[in-house]
Amino acid sequence: MGYLEIKDMEISFPTPKGKYIAVKDINLSIAKGEIVSIIGHSGCGKSTIMNAIGGMIIPTGGTVFLNDKKIKAPGPDRGIVFQNYSLLPWLTVYQNIFQAVDAVMTCSKFDKHEIVENNLKMVNLYIHKDKLPGQLSGGMKQRVAIARAFAINPSVLLLDEPFGALDALTKGTMHLELLKLWNLDNREKTIIMVTHDIEEAIFLSDRIIVMNDGPSATIREIENVRIPRPRNKLDIVNSPEYRAIRDRLLHLLTDKFSIEDLGIKYKN
Ligand SMILES: Nc1ncnc2c1ncn2[C@@H]1O[C@H](COP(=O)(O)OP(=O)(O)OP(=O)(O)O)[C@@H](O)[C@H]1O
Ligand SMILES: [Mg+2]
Repeated sequence: MGYLEIKDMEISFPTPKGKYIAVKDINLSIAKGEIVSIIGHSGCGKSTIMNAIGGMIIPTGGTVFLNDKKIKAPGPDRGIVFQNYSLLPWLTVYQNIFQAVDAVMTCSKFDKHEIVENNLKMVNLYIHKDKLPGQLSGGMKQRVAIARAFAINPSVLLLDEPFGALDALTKGTMHLELLKLWNLDNREKTIIMVTHDIEEAIFLSDRIIVMNDGPSATIREIENVRIPRPRNKLDIVNSPEYRAIRDRLLHLLTDKFSIEDLGIKYKN
């Protein structure tokens, strides 16, 4: 059994018109230390799957196991960056991160303070630590959420479009920070990330899960990324492996239309 095991999962929601099946027949086995991305069109159920792994949603069918235990609720073993950041609006940037660290870690108050400060520096928000979320830009809020998830050093990191609101330069830095964190932990941290960015998915992942559209969305295909690590972004984007994966993913995501219809041109 994999470290994270999703078995025959179905998630439906009650609606006034009856139940809406968001995802079904989801089977997935993820090894400890694997980096897996989930991609698919808006509304196909990516956040729903992440929420089930996080323990915020209990599947209406099937089971999710982490380390052989059935997931029934959120826990400190899983750090989450939500799609909508989920910061507490009445706490400052510093306090938002400190509160999470304090709830999960057993070290001294001084060590917790150090952890918060180091993570604030990592996301380049140290000088903004006393601001409230309402005083931050979207990208800054997102970086607070990233710092908070990294700070509690969970064995599973669940990242729901974690870098979507960031400019390209900051995004590139965050990719390297994420890999640094993973390497520091001897590549034992399991990372599951939702993204709409194909380049990001290929650069970071060992496997990419491509979803079908909903309702009743299923896994359409799983793409293995066998590009050796450490990866250098500039080197890999020109490699034949990278281009082949990118073309397959683009095809899977756009096959309802012809590529020409969408005006996407392949560069050779
Ligand atoms: N609490 C809920 N009640 C009813 N329907 C829901 C609920 N949560 C999600 N859904 C539905 O489930 C489907 C999947 O939603 P989800 O948020 O997982 O999509 P997504 O793939 O994350 O999309 P996006 O890329 O836009 O974030 C959508 O049709 C959504 O309306
Ligand atoms: Mg989502």
